[in-house]
Amino acid sequence: MQRTRVRYRCGDCGALAPKWVGCCAECGAWGTLVEAPDAIGAVRANAAASAGAAVPLRSIDPGAATRASTGIAELDRVLGGGLVAGSVTLLGGEPGVGKSTLLLQAAVAMAAGDVGRPARRVLLVAAEESPEQVRMRAERLGELADDLLVVAECSVPNLLALADTVAPDLVVIDSIQTVHDPDATGVPGSVTQVRDCASAFVRLAKERGIAVVLVGHVTKDGALAGPRVLEHMVDTVLSFEGDRHHALRTLRAVKHRFGATGELGIFAMTGTGLHEVADASAMLLTDRRPGAAGSVVVPVMEASRPLLVEVQALVAPTPAAMPRRQAQAIDNGRFAMTVALLQRRCGASELVSCDIFANIVGGMRCADPGADLGLALAIASAWTDVPVPPQTVVVGEVGLGGEVRSVPGLERRLSEAARIGFLQAIVPESAPDIDGIELVRVGDLPAAMGAALAAPLEFR
Ligand code: TYD
Ligand code: MG
Repeated sequence: MQRTRVRYRCGDCGALAPKWVGCCAECGAWGTLVEAPDAIGAVRANAAASAGAAVPLRSIDPGAATRASTGIAELDRVLGGGLVAGSVTLLGGEPGVGKSTLLLQAAVAMAAGDVGRPARRVLLVAAEESPEQVRMRAERLGELADDLLVVAECSVPNLLALADTVAPDLVVIDSIQTVHDPDATGVPGSVTQVRDCASAFVRLAKERGIAVVLVGHVTKDGALAGPRVLEHMVDTVLSFEGDRHHALRTLRAVKHRFGATGELGIFAMTGTGLHEVADASAMLLTDRRPGAAGSVVVPVMEASRPLLVEVQALVAPTPAAMPRRQAQAIDNGRFAMTVALLQRRCGASELVSCDIFANIVGGMRCADPGADLGLALAIASAWTDVPVPPQTVVVGEVGLGGEVRSVPGLERRLSEAARIGFLQAIVPESAPDIDGIELVRVGDLPAAMGAALAAPLEFR
């Protein structure tokens, strides 16, 4: 049978089809298939022409990857020291979280330079905003150096030509969803466009040794074409997160070819841009009312960083047949499990007819299993109206049998609690002793309730 040389490609999702059909079988879009020459053959031909020579691994200079500090300590921390020349970084986050602000601040600082940090030439590609808008935003961020260049251009070939004449050390593309390549199919932001544009910038970075940062939007449901398909093309993927209604923003590396991914950067969005937060635990605990029922302080680990967060719960009897269960910034599965554990292992069967709400204050999302016990005690405390002692923190994972289990980083969590001034901690039985904080070791949920609320099974 003769092989088909021509395939059809969907302009929206990039799926290949052997023959033309009206509706893409992958994504269901209509009329998006266009003729594409056999892509695999073309790639092979290119590779054969440009195959490089193999060299002994030991002959390669590891110091060749030079890092340029961004001038923003929290960003450098996540990047493991700074941006590597010739690397491509993708900064993902929901619209409005502060991606443009963060990169503008980094660009201003890099172009200005500082002691021990030479000034760099930066090209800002503002494909979403006008240069005037960028200028207005930059107004409050510091002295603007001549080496900070801005262009409002969306066409990739023009941008590549510009990068050749300007010869920058850093190019920021804000955003990859709004630039477009006239040779690629699909509208800007579609998977084929995003992928083709990104691969052009990856080539630019590798060939010229320029550090490239791509901004990518992700929506809550992850439906937008974009960063997901890019993740394997770039060297580093940073995720910028935060609740729009709160000042707190966190930055972490999801993938990093030039360092560890365990670091977390913490920022606060203010009227004058993003500020680094020196003491995040103290910030998260401001406005806490010590001694309020339903409130528990939990030392959680965010990446490799211990943080104290306040978990709050509210329990209210309701005549409704379907009581409400709502958790904010807490994983819904863990929340439902905790409520079920209280009902089944602690005799709190009355919770069946109660609305239960739980929340982590301050906009910090938390998926740490170490917060299980704190959440359970917050709900129990809200229900019994007995406060957990104000100088006490709670940490531990709760198993389905109601047993309290150990979690990673216990020492660091407890040291952080001691540093902030907490005197006592309710912890799993295997917890090591820590200076400056008294430990109450508990084996299961009822024992924890006895220790925290002095009322093990006395539900009203
Ligand atoms: P932005 O960086 O435009 O977000 P993104 O590029 O991720 O879409 O900024 C988002 C929000 O930050 C915007 O609603 C306004 C706010 N903001 C401040 O609060 N202070 C500031 O100094 C700046 C520049 C923005
Ligand atoms: Mg933006």
